[in-house]
Amino acid sequence: MEYLRQLSVSDGLDVYNLLQHIGEEENAFKNPVKKMSYEEFKQWLVQQEAWSRNENLPDGCVGQTCFWLIVDNIPVCFGKIRHALTSQSRLIGGNIGYAVSSLYRGKGYGTILLHKLLEKANEMKIEEKFLTVEKYNYASKRVIEKNGGKMVSENDYRWSFRF
Ligand SMILES: CC(C)(COP(=O)(O)OP(=O)(O)OC[C@H]1O[C@@H](n2cnc3c(N)ncnc32)[C@H](O)[C@@H]1OP(=O)(O)O)[C@@H](O)C(=O)NCCC(=O)NCCS
Repeated sequence: MEYLRQLSVSDGLDVYNLLQHIGEEENAFKNPVKKMSYEEFKQWLVQQEAWSRNENLPDGCVGQTCFWLIVDNIPVCFGKIRHALTSQSRLIGGNIGYAVSSLYRGKGYGTILLHKLLEKANEMKIEEKFLTVEKYNYASKRVIEKNGGKMVSENDYRWSFRF
């Protein structure tokens, strides 16, 4: 049984452990918790919960909500939904990002995660879903295509997709 759980300040060691199995920056997906202590992670949760309410945002940043994909009671994936697209995220990043724990890749969870993030974005009334993928991240390209995303442009560095 897989489901999405929204980040909460009461998240604990199981989420921290997930975030230790995702690189600090993998294919442009950023995971600042990778190099944080557990105490710093707990502070990061407070910051992220505020950002999900569009509060205390750094200049030029839009709100974002983080989710964990829970599989058999274990958090195995990290997903982010930004609440709006900006001129910058229309070039790099888009408004949906995701990563799977290195312990659980290649088992179909990335595909399930994106499906559930797209459903969540609909619930959040985010109509435009735009993702960019670094060349040549074929696994992520496949995850998007399996969920019905269409490539809309490419340059020397990345592909862009819309849903
Ligand atoms: C990209 C990522 C999310 C894929 O997650 P995953 O759970 O391993 O993906 P899935 O198991 O759902 O596989 C999806 C498809 O990709 C294919 N795939 C997986 N790894 C692959 C690889 N290294 N090369 C080519 N295809 C690959 C799978 O075979 C599957 O296609 P199929 O069903 O046709 O066989 C994961 O590798 C990851 O977290 N990478 C680091 C962060 C990242 O790149 N995030 C995306 C930024 S845009």
